Amino acid sequence: MKKIMNATLSKKNVGETLELYGWVAKKRNLGGLLFIDLRDRSGIVQLVVRPEDNAYGVAETVRNEYVLKVLGTVLERESKNDKLATGEIEVQVTELTILNTSLELPFEISEDTTALEDTRLKYRYLDLRRNRLQEIMKLRHKITLATRNFLDSEGFLEIETPILCKSTPEGARDYLVPSRVNDGKFYALPQSPQLFKQLLMVGGMEKYFQIAKCFRDEDLRADRQPEFTQIDLEMSFVEENDVMDLAERLVASVFKETKGIEVPLPLKRMRYIDAINLYGSDKPDLRFGMPIEEISDIFEKTEISFLKSVLEENGIINCLVAKNCADKYSRKEIDKLTDYVKTYRAGGLAYLKLENEMTGSIAKLLSEEEKNSLITRLQLETNDMVFIVSGKKEVVKTSLGALRLKLGRDLELIDKTRYEMLWVVDFPSFEYSEEEGRYVACHHPFTSPKEADVDKLINDPGNCYSKAYDIVINGYEAGGGSIRIHNQEVQNTMFKALGLSEEEVQEKFGFFVTALKYGTPPHGGIAFGLDRLTMLLAETENIRDVIAFPKTASASCLMSEAPNIVSERQLEELHIALRK
Ligand code: AMO
Repeated sequence: MKKIMNATLSKKNVGETLELYGWVAKKRNLGGLLFIDLRDRSGIVQLVVRPEDNAYGVAETVRNEYVLKVLGTVLERESKNDKLATGEIEVQVTELTILNTSLELPFEISEDTTALEDTRLKYRYLDLRRNRLQEIMKLRHKITLATRNFLDSEGFLEIETPILCKSTPEGARDYLVPSRVNDGKFYALPQSPQLFKQLLMVGGMEKYFQIAKCFRDEDLRADRQPEFTQIDLEMSFVEENDVMDLAERLVASVFKETKGIEVPLPLKRMRYIDAINLYGSDKPDLRFGMPIEEISDIFEKTEISFLKSVLEENGIINCLVAKNCADKYSRKEIDKLTDYVKTYRAGGLAYLKLENEMTGSIAKLLSEEEKNSLITRLQLETNDMVFIVSGKKEVVKTSLGALRLKLGRDLELIDKTRYEMLWVVDFPSFEYSEEEGRYVACHHPFTSPKEADVDKLINDPGNCYSKAYDIVINGYEAGGGSIRIHNQEVQNTMFKALGLSEEEVQEKFGFFVTALKYGTPPHGGIAFGLDRLTMLLAETENIRDVIAFPKTASASCLMSEAPNIVSERQLEELHIALRK
């Protein structure tokens, strides 16, 4: 069995004869001397074979990615390489065995590979040999290990819950699995273990966690996969502060254990409404400032017709101030930003520049008083740039929130050396879905409303707030949870508020509502996106980088070619006929 991590070898091993294993990362012939970089999971060690050595004949036939067994002696190098951990030594080969050969590679295994991601995904097992991916897999392992250790020390039990579940609407679309033995019936893969973890609390487990696979058939983005992993936990006899306290200590412990980063606790908290008003997002990136400014009142007497009509229709006028960069924005650049905010349904993007005087798309139409108010309110200085969006509140906030992030990136305002974490709290219980023409749950239907709002569930849902909290790190929703409804009457009222009939509730959640009748303790919990935490700690913006075998944006695996067509016979057994 392989004993040595090759990259642990150093000057202290000089003179030792060792057995090494690994892959050929590179071979060079320098005036007859053969140098082979032997790679294993730990890194690279240089082998040297001289023409007079017995192993020379075999060494000559070796090519990249061949698998070798080596017997050799550690020597101090004449010319040292300080870029390599093992750069002070090399191994002089006495015996060389080729354990396996390799085909010509579809791409070079190097850190600065230019291979297309699709090619790397097709040969993912080769991509995984790259140092960057090996480091990320080690990091991911450390994160789960630190999580398990921390939660164990806090008295949590790791309990698995089913993967073949009942389809219960939770937000996204379910992945369905046909049941062969139950003709016409389907299981659903869990979108999260939500109901099961609550039932574990009914079952008296008190503190549960699980590193849980979740499946959601939803549109994919850079931080979303159809199957992803949660650090899922639930606790009995707790209130919001208890869960938030535990969860932030878990995050602090993971950051400390994996990267030695001290997270100052307690984390700051921001109300949902403030996050939306100031940053146009429920997951604000606080690594830079540039909050959204409210300037509607300055335009009360405006002569600018489009702004006048926005205010008449109860709309708002908000802006962002980009400091000291008016000279960076040409007409063409501003047109590009205008197109950008339009993708967020903004009607347009007005702008002002403070140069010797105020210029910009609406400058000529501003009264002196309005100009002065803007300069004072926004503390404008020469060369500042103001981007203005007006319209319906939701559109204004969302588009300026997106523009803020774009400006933050474009103008390099984001301090990438630090992590900015916060809790977003006091979420509304419901959000109105234009598409469905009804209120839908902001988190999920099991989230408890604030005590004071229970009576508003039916008659005033728009003003009902919940005991939900999200943890946001660098603009990512890293986790979310809530205190749950443990009273079956409140739960039934919640279902009613969501427009579910009694029959529907019985059919979909009957088992759960029944359980709530048997002495359910007050409980709550949270789930972290393990992939997202790993992305943050690995400093990547691509979720595929942190998953060993990820799926593409069209939810397929380029390597194994899943999903695939199955045989007629399999379909028959499952009682399924495909519609042509
Ligand atoms: P929620 O739906 O907010 O809550 O999910 C919790 C966390 O999981 C991560 N996440 C994802 N990561 C990658 N790809 C996805 N498609 C994806 N969807 C979600 C996010 C998110 O914050 N049962 C509740 C938790 C609870 O209430 O305890 C739930 O699933 O980081």
